[in-house]
Amino acid sequence: MDGSENQQTNVLLESDWINKWETRNIGFHEADVHTLLAEFLDEILANRKQIKIFFPLCGKAVDMKWLAEMGHLIFGVDVCELGIKEFFEENNIPYVEEAIPQIPGGKVFKSKSGNISLYCCSIYDLNESIVGKFDGIWDRGGMVAINPTDRERYVRVVTSLMDKDCRYLLVTVEYDPKLHGGPPFYISDANLEKLLASFFGWSAARWLRLAPLWFSLHF
Ligand SMILES: C[S@@+](CC[C@H](N)C(=O)[O-])C[C@H]1O[C@@H](n2cnc3c(N)ncnc32)[C@H](O)[C@@H]1O
Repeated sequence: MDGSENQQTNVLLESDWINKWETRNIGFHEADVHTLLAEFLDEILANRKQIKIFFPLCGKAVDMKWLAEMGHLIFGVDVCELGIKEFFEENNIPYVEEAIPQIPGGKVFKSKSGNISLYCCSIYDLNESIVGKFDGIWDRGGMVAINPTDRERYVRVVTSLMDKDCRYLLVTVEYDPKLHGGPPFYISDANLEKLLASFFGWSAARWLRLAPLWFSLHF
């Protein structure tokens, strides 16, 4: 046992996340572009221009604006409308709001210029018929924020949205899970590799690891 099992019983409901936003308990939000994204952006882009990039559990990450300004097409999903609206308002990006016909109660907020679309719904309700497939994924605060018991479900959705040459850059956190209940939840590299390998196959997972396409942050 590597310790990550200790956190399997911690469960956050969507309402808990909305409550975090409403009570300003959003220490995860960073004012600047993530240093690892800036450092390893080429791993996602692979010399491609104007690609379609997905932010699972996007919050109001300023990285979305940064990449949109480079000419990329940005898609995000977050269950909290407040965070999505704050993204557009704090960055002075005019937006429109539309219903998502396939998801009862779901909404999509789109920049008027059309290059940023943020879906307000659970990631588990998204599918290819709604958002299509992506060329790149930036996962910071997604995999480590979902409940450990939902990891397979999460990876199934994310991988189903990856186009053939999609690059998936994932940030995990490293700490002693006995000292903190999460989120962010701890996932060991070994468990992450096992999880991804069950979707990509061992050879692809090994390649991803060597690339390297995921990183461990140390507190
Ligand atoms: C740790 S925050 C990360 C936000 C963002 N990625 C960043 O780097 O700032 C996790 C976000 O996931 C959202 N969230 C939690 N569960 C979700 C779900 N099932 N579907 C969509 N969003 C969810 C929360 O509202 C929260 O904004």
